[in-house]
Amino acid sequence: MYEKREVTARVEKQESLTEDVRELILETELADDAMPGQFVNLFCGDGARLLPRPISVCDTFMGRMKLVYRVVGAGTAELAALRPGDTVRMVGNLGNGYDPRTAFGKNVLVVGGGLGIPPMYYLSRLLHALGMRGGAEAPASLTMVLGYRDQASTFLHRAFTGFGKVVFASDDGTIGYRGTVLDAIRAEEISCDVIYACGPLPMLRGLASFAEEQRETEKDIKCYVSLEERMACGIGTCLGCVVKTKHEDAHSRVRNARICTEGPVFDSAEIAW
Ligand SMILES: Cc1cc2nc3c(=O)[nH]c(=O)nc-3n(C[C@H](O)[C@H](O)[C@H](O)COP(=O)(O)OP(=O)(O)OC[C@H]3O[C@@H](n4cnc5c(N)ncnc54)[C@H](O)[C@@H]3O)c2cc1C
Ligand code: FES
Repeated sequence: MYEKREVTARVEKQESLTEDVRELILETELADDAMPGQFVNLFCGDGARLLPRPISVCDTFMGRMKLVYRVVGAGTAELAALRPGDTVRMVGNLGNGYDPRTAFGKNVLVVGGGLGIPPMYYLSRLLHALGMRGGAEAPASLTMVLGYRDQASTFLHRAFTGFGKVVFASDDGTIGYRGTVLDAIRAEEISCDVIYACGPLPMLRGLASFAEEQRETEKDIKCYVSLEERMACGIGTCLGCVVKTKHEDAHSRVRNARICTEGPVFDSAEIAW
């Protein structure tokens, strides 16, 4: 495991995927050891915004890291202004990420909602590569369910094709099933042994209940969720990102976990939803 480190990345490319979603390609050594589900903390150049902005790793290739983000405030607007050749300071790779070993030999369901979709691209690509290699590490099957607001807000949706079965859901039905990702999973009667998910909290909560339901009636489904809630320091010191857990931490004696260091990926059965 590599240590987290602060680096200066060079912007290779930036383009718009939708009206407010951008794809940023950075040349950085962090690309060499980033795992799906991990994130980087990007520092804004403006001294008024000292807290770094966490963005998940969407992909890595040949010393490049792809980030996909929505412009929602001043920090991401500043990122959107970066041009090829500019540099950006960042710390990575942060967080635990998804453990691909939990997918070995399993029927895998990957679920992404909105801006939770970028990290699921990297995970799906890795799981597909394991499948192509074959042997005991190959997942038995890979299904991906992606949820969007509507057709106009889609991004990365074509990129998943070829990794396995892809199912879409949208609020207004303009792409895929009309409704939530959970509505699509039920309509398609998708059967799985393990779920990996990232997206809005209500979606993650719904998937955690779905897995719980399955455990009560049928089989032992595992569900791993990435909690991309607001963060401050991003390195475990401010306690600004704690989530309530069901079990007491043996060391600190509290039922809390820091999303930035113990997460952002958690076994959904460990979270006190
Ligand atoms: C581990 C992690 C990974 C993330 N990965 C991505 C990613 O891959 N792509 C992406 O677009 N975003 C991602 N985010 C969210 C991203 O960090 C925020 O959108 C960003 O920090 C906002 O900065 P800002 O200065 O532009 O907006 P701010 O001015 O800080 O906030 C603008 C608005 O966005 C809301 N907001 C800020 N942060 C969050 C958040 N984490 N969740 C929900 N609402 C928020 C604020 O409440 C406010 O209404 C991730 C967050 C975490 C914690
Ligand atoms: S953001 Fe500071 S402890 Fe997690």
